[in-house]
Amino acid sequence: MNLKIIKISTFVLPLILLSMFITNLKLDSKNHPMNDSITQKVDSLLQIMTIEEKVGQMNLYNGFWDATGPVPEGGDAKTKYDHLRKGWVGGMLNVRGVKNVRGVQKIAVEETRLGIPLIIGFDVIHGYKTISPIPLAESASWDLEAIENSARIAATEASAAGINWTFAPMVDISRDPRWGRVMEGAGEDPFLGSKIAIARVKGFQGEDLSQPNTIAACAKHFAAYGFVESGREYNTVDMSNVKLFNTVLPPFKAAAENGVRTFMNSFNDLNGIPVSGSKFLQRDILKDKWNFNGFVVSDWASINEIIYWGHAKNKKEAAFIASTAGSDMDMEGHVYVQELAELVKAGQIDEAIIDEAAGRILRVKFELGLFDNPYKYCNEEREKSIIGQASHHEAALDIAKKSIVLLKNENNILPLKKEGQKIALIGPLANDKNSPLGSWRLASEDNSAVSILEGMEAYTKNELSYAKGIELFKGQATFRNQVEINKGDRQGIEEALNIAKDSDVVVMVLGEHGFQSGEARSRTELNLPGLQQELLEAIYHVNKNIVLVLQNGRPLAIEWAAEHIPAIIEGWQLGSETGNAIAQVLYGDYNPSGKLPMTFPRNVGQIPIYYNYNNTGRATNREGNVFWSHYIDKENSPLYPFGHGLSYTTFKYSDLKVDTSNYGKNIKVEISVDITNSGKRKGKEVAQLYIRDKVASIVRPIKELKGFELVELDTNQTITVSFSLTANELGFYNNDGNYIIEPGDFDVFVGGSSVTEIKSEFTLK
Ligand code: NOJ
Repeated sequence: MNLKIIKISTFVLPLILLSMFITNLKLDSKNHPMNDSITQKVDSLLQIMTIEEKVGQMNLYNGFWDATGPVPEGGDAKTKYDHLRKGWVGGMLNVRGVKNVRGVQKIAVEETRLGIPLIIGFDVIHGYKTISPIPLAESASWDLEAIENSARIAATEASAAGINWTFAPMVDISRDPRWGRVMEGAGEDPFLGSKIAIARVKGFQGEDLSQPNTIAACAKHFAAYGFVESGREYNTVDMSNVKLFNTVLPPFKAAAENGVRTFMNSFNDLNGIPVSGSKFLQRDILKDKWNFNGFVVSDWASINEIIYWGHAKNKKEAAFIASTAGSDMDMEGHVYVQELAELVKAGQIDEAIIDEAAGRILRVKFELGLFDNPYKYCNEEREKSIIGQASHHEAALDIAKKSIVLLKNENNILPLKKEGQKIALIGPLANDKNSPLGSWRLASEDNSAVSILEGMEAYTKNELSYAKGIELFKGQATFRNQVEINKGDRQGIEEALNIAKDSDVVVMVLGEHGFQSGEARSRTELNLPGLQQELLEAIYHVNKNIVLVLQNGRPLAIEWAAEHIPAIIEGWQLGSETGNAIAQVLYGDYNPSGKLPMTFPRNVGQIPIYYNYNNTGRATNREGNVFWSHYIDKENSPLYPFGHGLSYTTFKYSDLKVDTSNYGKNIKVEISVDITNSGKRKGKEVAQLYIRDKVASIVRPIKELKGFELVELDTNQTITVSFSLTANELGFYNNDGNYIIEPGDFDVFVGGSSVTEIKSEFTLK
C-alpha cells in the first residue's frame, strides 16, 4: 500500500497489519471466503478512517466547469476545495486534461490526512476527442469486435487525459424513439443489448484495470430509464416484473457478470420508488442476487430528487433512503456529505452501511492501481502523443462505415458513379462539421468532423454542386441549450432547386442536429424537424432521383420519404469521420452492412413499437370484421423493422436445418442455414436467429432474437452458418423474478431481419 497511511505514523501501521490478519477470515454473503488482498487493504483502511472520511469517499463532485446537469446549492468552488482538502471528496467528474486532474489529485493525495486518491469520472460515451458514431449507430453494425475496439480507443484517449472512470456504457433498452437518449443505447433488444454491453465493458476495462490505458466502466441507468412514460425525459416508470426481468435487466446482468466495476442509478421512479432509493434494485437484485462487488453511483443529484419526487421530506431523509437502499456514491448532490455523518452519529444509520459503501469505492480505486500511483493517468507526454492519433481516426472511420444502414435502394440508384454524374448535394446538415459529432462529445473540438460535403469532394471526380437550402434552426446549438427551430426562413430554397434541376442525382442530407437527441431531448413528433420535409418535397418536384442521407440520433417517422424517395441511407451521427464514411458508401467503396437495432415507426401513434411484442388474443383479422387488434388509420407494421438493412448485393437463405436428435437436458439444439451471395458484389450479412416459445405459462413474444452471425461472402459463394441453443437459453423470468424453463414447442426463424419467415421448429422435452 503505497499511500500516505505510511506517512500517518509508524504507530498506526502495526494496527493495520493486525486488522488485515483479522479480516482475512471474513465471508461474503454467499459464504465465499473474502481473503483477497484488496479486501484486506480496504478493510484495514476503513479501520483508520473517521466517519467523515468514509462519507467523503461517497461524495462525487463536479469539477469547476462543464456542468452536465443543474448546479445544486452548495456547489460553489470554495466549498468544493475546502471539502477536497478535508478528505471529504471521493471522486470528481468533468475534470479533464492531465494538468487539471493532477491539480485536484495533488490536493487529495498531498493535503488530506490519509492521502486517498480521487477517482476521476467523465462521460466518455462515444469517444473522447476522436469521436466515434453515437452508440445507437455503432449498435447497427452488430460487429462486436469493432464496438469493443471503439470503446478501447475511447478508454485509451480518456486515460491519457487523466480520466480513469467512464459513465458508459448506457445499457438502457428502449422502445420509444421519442426519448432522446435512445441515441446513447443499443436499441430495443435485450439479447443484442447484452452482447453490446459486454463488448463495451471489455473495451473500456480491457483485461487488466490496473493498466494506465484502461478505465472503469459504468452500466447505466439502473434501471428502466428507457421506459419513461410517453418518452418524456426524467418521467415516471410503471412496469411489471415480467418486463423488468426479461427486457430491462438482461444487459445490466450481462455487464455485472462480465466484471463491470460500477453501476449508475437513474432519474426515474420504478413503480412508485425513485430508483436512487430502490432497495429492490440496488440491494436485492444487484448486490445480493447478482453478487456485484463494485459500487453504485447516483445520477446527477438524483438523491436530492427523491425529495422532489415526494418520497423524502428533506435531505436527511433522502440521504437515509438512498444509502440504505444501496446507492454508494452521491453525484453532485451534496446530500451525503452534508447529512450522513450526523445520521450515523445520531444512531439513525448503522455505520456498517457507510463502511460497505466506502469499501466498495475504495476497492475499485485499489483495482485501478490508484494507491500504487495516483498520477498514473497524468503523463503529459502520453496525453500529447496519444489523443487524436491517426490510428484512432482510422478505427473511427471503420466503425462509422459499419454503422450505416441502407434502408432502401430502388432500381439500384446506389452506389453513385465515380465519374460522369452531375451531383447536387443539398440540405442543412450536408456541410455541417459539428452536428455529426453527436451529443456526448464534451472533449472533442467543435466543428471537427469531416462533413459530408468534404467527404464527397474527396471521393469523386464528378461535378458536385452544393446548396444548404434552409437553416435547421436559429442561433447555435450546444449541449445545454434548447434550439429554436427555423420555421419561416425559406431564402435558400430557390438556389437548391436550381442546382437540383440541373443534376443527374440529388443527395439530400436531412435529419436531426447532434444536439436534437440525447439527454433532455424528448420529442413528440418524429418527422424531419423544421422546414426539411418542405425542402425535400420541393426538390422532389424538380428531380426525383434523390438519395436521402439521414443524419439523426433516433428512429424517425419518414413515411412520405420511404414511399417516394428511391434511396435512403440511415447515416446517424457518425462522429469525426462522418463525411468519409458516408462518401465511401455512396460511391460503393464500402458495401453497407448495418442492420437496424431499433424499429422505425410509420408515425408517432404507433409508439411503442418493437419486434418482440406479445401476440394478443386478436392478433389477426380472423373474421373479416373490425374486432381485432389494429388501428383504423394505419397498418400495425412498422416502416422499417428491427434487424432490417440492405446491401449492394443480395443474400438468399436456404436449407434451414434443426437437429434435435440428441436433444435433452444440457444438450444443444443445433441449427444451420445456408446463405448465398446471389448478387454482384462481395458483401456482409448479419444472419439473425429468432425463436418463439409457442405455449408458456406467461405469454411469450412472437419472436425473440437468440443469436446472430456477421458473415462476409464473395459473389456466388454459399456458406453454412450454424447456431446452437441450450435449454437454458430458452427460458424466461416469471413475475417473481425467477428464471424458468418450460418444455414445449418452439418455432425457430433465421434470416436477414426480424420479419423473416424462414422457419422450422423443435420441441424441448
Ligand atoms: C446525467 C446523465 O443522466 C448521466 O448519464 C451522466 O453520466 C451524468 N449526467 C454525468 O454527466
